[in-house]
Amino acid sequence: MLGIRLNLAMLRVVNTTHQRSRNLILIGFMGTGKTTIGKRVAKSLGFRFVDTDQLVAKRAGKKIPKIFEEDGEEAFRKLETEVLQDCAAGVDQVISTGGGIITRPENLEILKKAGYVIWLKASPETIYERVQRNRNRPLLQTDDPEETIRNLLDERVGLYEKANDLSVATDGLTLDETSFGVTESTRVALGMG
Ligand code: S3P
Repeated sequence: MLGIRLNLAMLRVVNTTHQRSRNLILIGFMGTGKTTIGKRVAKSLGFRFVDTDQLVAKRAGKKIPKIFEEDGEEAFRKLETEVLQDCAAGVDQVISTGGGIITRPENLEILKKAGYVIWLKASPETIYERVQRNRNRPLLQTDDPEETIRNLLDERVGLYEKANDLSVATDGLTLDETSFGVTESTRVALGMG
């Protein structure tokens, strides 16, 4: 299965014509493992790990739930775009992004130039399983988080599709398998031999 995905990655590389910087960007819904996988892949590639959520919180001087609560989602999105733009100016980084980064059209353009974009996918059930005990995600503090996940996924799936160079379905893969697939396809895509 993994082998097939890697071959697809290579085909995609051949077909990609736009100039991109030497970064890996991980996109995907909340709870798809962007941070965990990103840290491991960064280590393997010798890249710096950066996380747009962490940088937004740092810039705002408060945690993400507080930004949503006090300033609203729009303020969060504005900061997220600024941070993404800053990250895109660097190289040799694994950039883990917030799940909603693809909701702003201008971010899609930035992502494209910023590097190789991998979409980590997971089923709504897996996502729910992974996020249910975590209170750091304001958009999931609803009466029925599982339903919210399904609705948000439906809204966003086309945007993730538009933004990615390669997608990896993580359901049923171990962390090692996902990290390996992501690392090796990135090496090929970024011409790292
Ligand atoms: C969000 C995802 C979160 C964070 C914020 C909004 C979203 O990041 O940026 O809570 O809109 O999907 P993670 O995907 O890292 O949880």
